[in-house]
Amino acid sequence: MKIDHSASPARTNIESHLKEKRLFQPPREFAQEARIKNFAQYQRMYRESIKSPGKFWAREANELVWRKRWRKVVEWKPPFAKWFIGGQLNLSENCLDRHLTTHRRNKAAILWEGEPGERRTLTYQQLHREVCRFANVLKRNKIGKGDRVIIYMPTIPEVAIAMLACARIGAVHSVVFGGFSADSIRDRIADSGAIALITADGSYRRGGIVPLKKNVDDALSGGTSVKRVIVFQRAHTEIHMEEGRDVWWHRELEYVGGDCPPTPVDSEHPLYILYTSGSTGKPKGILHTTGGYLVGIYSTTKYVFDLRDEDIYWCTADVGWVTGHSYVVYGPLANGATTLMYEGAPNWPEPDRFWRIIEENRVNILYTAPTAIRAFIRWGDQWVKKHDLSSLRLLGTVGEPINPEAWMWYHKTIGGGRCPVVDTWWQTETGAIMITPLPGAIPTKPGSATLPFFGVDAAIVDARGKEVGPNVGGKLIIRRPWPSMLRNIYGDKERYKKQYWSEYPGNYLTGDGARRDQDGYFWIVGRIDDVLNVAGHRLGTSEIESALVSHARVAEAAVVGRPDELKGQGVVAFVTLKAGVEASNDLKGELREHVGRHIGAIAKPDEVRFAEALPKTRSGKIMRRLLKEIASGAKVTGDTTTLEDFSVLAKLAQSDE
Ligand code: WT7
Repeated sequence: MKIDHSASPARTNIESHLKEKRLFQPPREFAQEARIKNFAQYQRMYRESIKSPGKFWAREANELVWRKRWRKVVEWKPPFAKWFIGGQLNLSENCLDRHLTTHRRNKAAILWEGEPGERRTLTYQQLHREVCRFANVLKRNKIGKGDRVIIYMPTIPEVAIAMLACARIGAVHSVVFGGFSADSIRDRIADSGAIALITADGSYRRGGIVPLKKNVDDALSGGTSVKRVIVFQRAHTEIHMEEGRDVWWHRELEYVGGDCPPTPVDSEHPLYILYTSGSTGKPKGILHTTGGYLVGIYSTTKYVFDLRDEDIYWCTADVGWVTGHSYVVYGPLANGATTLMYEGAPNWPEPDRFWRIIEENRVNILYTAPTAIRAFIRWGDQWVKKHDLSSLRLLGTVGEPINPEAWMWYHKTIGGGRCPVVDTWWQTETGAIMITPLPGAIPTKPGSATLPFFGVDAAIVDARGKEVGPNVGGKLIIRRPWPSMLRNIYGDKERYKKQYWSEYPGNYLTGDGARRDQDGYFWIVGRIDDVLNVAGHRLGTSEIESALVSHARVAEAAVVGRPDELKGQGVVAFVTLKAGVEASNDLKGELREHVGRHIGAIAKPDEVRFAEALPKTRSGKIMRRLLKEIASGAKVTGDTTTLEDFSVLAKLAQSDE
């Protein structure tokens, strides 16, 4: 079914084909105990949050610790917003110290399980002490307020300790996903001007060891702004320690005490930079600041997961992504919750690892990604059935649209039909969840992220910026600032303006296509820019193209996505080779590895296809739409090294500009 019937020239060509009719009411027992107990209460609070955002957000902010109260809740000089102006606070104080005077001081803050199976529990008191000690290590190493620090670590408690320690002294962290390569680290150091880097010798993944420190050494060879590398000993592998630059985490601790008062910072003081893909080759350093971000993640964690003090909450994301920042570390800890962290792969040693962890820890809330859910479905229900999942009371998803059948499986097979499912839409840029069910209040429809969170003024517009009617596809925008929004692309105001605020001035462009149904529910279709969503993570096609073109034998490359059963989107690269270079399967393999080395394994093309030339319009634009169709079409049979012949298409293309 085509939803977009409009013949208007402003139509965006975004179509949504889903016609899902199932509706799930919040379970009565759940709703009774929930903070937001019914739809009317949600509507009342939503209306208030839109009508008087200052009042709404001030109330939320008042639940947190401020060293100095703000003068004004928000100042909006489009496209720049400031929140809680004049306020001073410290994020680590809000995540740690504030719980030490309550019954939570002896509560588990972090439950951790390593891939090989070891377990650690850190209470709020213990975590506080470790953060203070490590903050003193940072100071000892001449790292201070405003300095940028790269964190490149496995999912171990120390990654949270490192982040919180930076926040404690006002240093700005930039976590680089442990799956990224040396080149990616180097780019991020250069862009952020980081003076220090925190890493580990290695990390466990599917029984093997990821050589983190080796990647760091490669990234730093040739010289960067990084003066100090602090290395945590995780895998006990042999590594190189550079005299005068590298120090061991455990050795450094011997020199410091456990006392480190939090440094109060301005509400708009930078908290972190997190790099994400855009539609140009250069990753964007998304800048988040302190006060508004804290209020946003505190409030969303509280209402969306409806946390109770006795809950064990598990978000399976890697800390290297924004979900790890907001909903593994900062959101849960700001709420005094118990957050579970697991280091390794979901299918190690067997495909039931997640269910074993849930059973053994009596996990109550599970927050994971559709790509993982699809993998579980594929591995088979027998792995789930082996375990008692009756402790679960709430399920969440994030990262990409979830197809209704996967939603149903999650609901039935994992949730036993009794757990609400919250499909949460947001982005690295939004910092916190934006469109989501509230589990006790908003009836859910499989595949829909439902309705906007408090204070979020989301709309779907046509190419001219006019709001479209029900069931018409368009572009998803946010019409006013929100506390946890990005403040800038690090060091690049012009790009920030152009990327997010220029198409519909004063409105934030998400880059996603969507529609709203007759009940106002949002259905996200996916990215409309040249950005892929592979296994819930954004990859810029041009980044991968740049990596390919940096190979000595490649002349030109075009990267497109194609539907992938497991990953949501797969990466297909069309490559033309330099004159005289022979196409071969070996070269295909080499190019895949090349991309892996330059960006990380996640960006490796699933398929490399060689072409004599790429189909282009007369003005020289690569015809991606056409390549996309070819990429998702039937698999080419026969000799896989055959060159694509685009000459016919290219001729056809001349009329299609
Ligand atoms: C993009 C943001 C937010 C943390 C993980 C990814 C897609 C995210 C959903 C959802 C449909 C979703 C969007 C968005 N996305 N959540 N619930 N339903 N699509 O963060 O790397 O910044 O990517 O992920 O396309 O724009 P990110």
